[in-house]
Amino acid sequence: MNMNILLLGSGGREHAIAYKIAQSSRCAKLYIAPGNAGTAALGENVNLDIADFDMVARFVIDHRVDMLVVGPEAPLVAGIADYFAQSPALSHVMVIGPSKEGARLEGSKDFAKSFMLRHKIPTARYRTFTRETLADAEAFLDTLQAPYVLKADGLAAGKGVLIENDLPTAKAHLREMLDGKFGSASASVVIEEYLSGIELSVFVLTEGQHYLILPSAKDYKRIGEGDTGLNTGGMGSISPVPFADKEFMKKVEDRIVKPTVRGLRDEKIDYRGFIFVGLMNCAGDPYVIEYNVRMGDPETESVFPRIKSDVVELFENTARGTLDRCLLSVDPRTAACVMMVAGGYPETYRKGDTIDLGQDAQDVLVFHCGTKRGDDGALLTNGGRVLCTTALAASLPEAILKSYNRLASIHWNDQYHRRDIGQDLLKLLL
Ligand code: AMP
Ligand code: GLY
Repeated sequence: MNMNILLLGSGGREHAIAYKIAQSSRCAKLYIAPGNAGTAALGENVNLDIADFDMVARFVIDHRVDMLVVGPEAPLVAGIADYFAQSPALSHVMVIGPSKEGARLEGSKDFAKSFMLRHKIPTARYRTFTRETLADAEAFLDTLQAPYVLKADGLAAGKGVLIENDLPTAKAHLREMLDGKFGSASASVVIEEYLSGIELSVFVLTEGQHYLILPSAKDYKRIGEGDTGLNTGGMGSISPVPFADKEFMKKVEDRIVKPTVRGLRDEKIDYRGFIFVGLMNCAGDPYVIEYNVRMGDPETESVFPRIKSDVVELFENTARGTLDRCLLSVDPRTAACVMMVAGGYPETYRKGDTIDLGQDAQDVLVFHCGTKRGDDGALLTNGGRVLCTTALAASLPEAILKSYNRLASIHWNDQYHRRDIGQDLLKLLL
């Protein structure tokens, strides 16, 4: 069956997902809501408010959409999969994304940590506190060693994690959080042990019974070179991660992926979608830092171009619970993605600058993040993260070089990018 597919979201992640969906012979018509100038070249952008489920539902019914692929976490945490499952007019629609209960793996750090504890999944030792248990929280901090990790329980737009080096500052921030620094998201705070090691992300596609492990990736969260300065949505990504070798990935599968999928099944949590496992490699052993219930951005921009399998077929089998019928075929080459952002990001920045996309290059993709078309058709910046270049090559150094070469031909007024994406991994290879 050829399907009409609606993809929700508007970032580089969605452009990369749309790129793979558009390659599938099983896709009849692709809609992206709201999308960006990049997705507009692969399907039809539709101006829907994706937080308004009634509006999404009307579009799905009117346009005979067969499959809904949810890019970002917010609609999942708000229960879009349940909304579709519970409506007779929509329950036939295949939804790629977990139920509201499943989305708590990302929506509540306390839920995620207690899930890991119940299923013996390796993670940092932790406890959860509220305003009423502030004294206990301070006493718990006294038992830990610096650095201190404080996490708002709920969604806080990626800003809810604080890592403090001294105890008085940690206690002051703990109090601010419990007093509403992040609104209701920090009414509960998880305090946990600091894990030291190298971070990486592993992505899993599951329907609650079977799973496929997608390529690993590493992202670069800080704005400044050498991982300095403010946190961002992500300044680049590399896939695969060289140290995530067979032996390490076997540990990830046995200690983390299997018990996570088994845990979801045993707790009867309906989960048909992606699990993004944020991991710390601590001296060769993987520990979970966090779960997300969606793909990462900009990890998707390096992971999805390496997937050779038909993603619509993978999604269909995810919705039907038959992922055991699928084999994942992966391009062995390395992908290097470098993000270009508007000057000033992640603080204040301008929108509306005209982008010159430069020269196409072989085996380099340009994924749009915050872009739109002006009234005259010109390509304009429309966000902090504007676009990224993803190059595929036989080795990591070649992929990095090709990505930066492509990037050098792209211009707008006041762009910024990090020049050191992947350099830490190159050093590990030496
Ligand atoms: P999260 O929002 O949970 O991904 O946390 C944001 C970032 O904080 C992570 O990507 C890690 O770099 C860091 N982090 C979180 N928890 C820990 C921990 N227990 N130990 C060390 N670093 C952590
Ligand atoms: N790149 C991190 C994230 O998508 O949350």
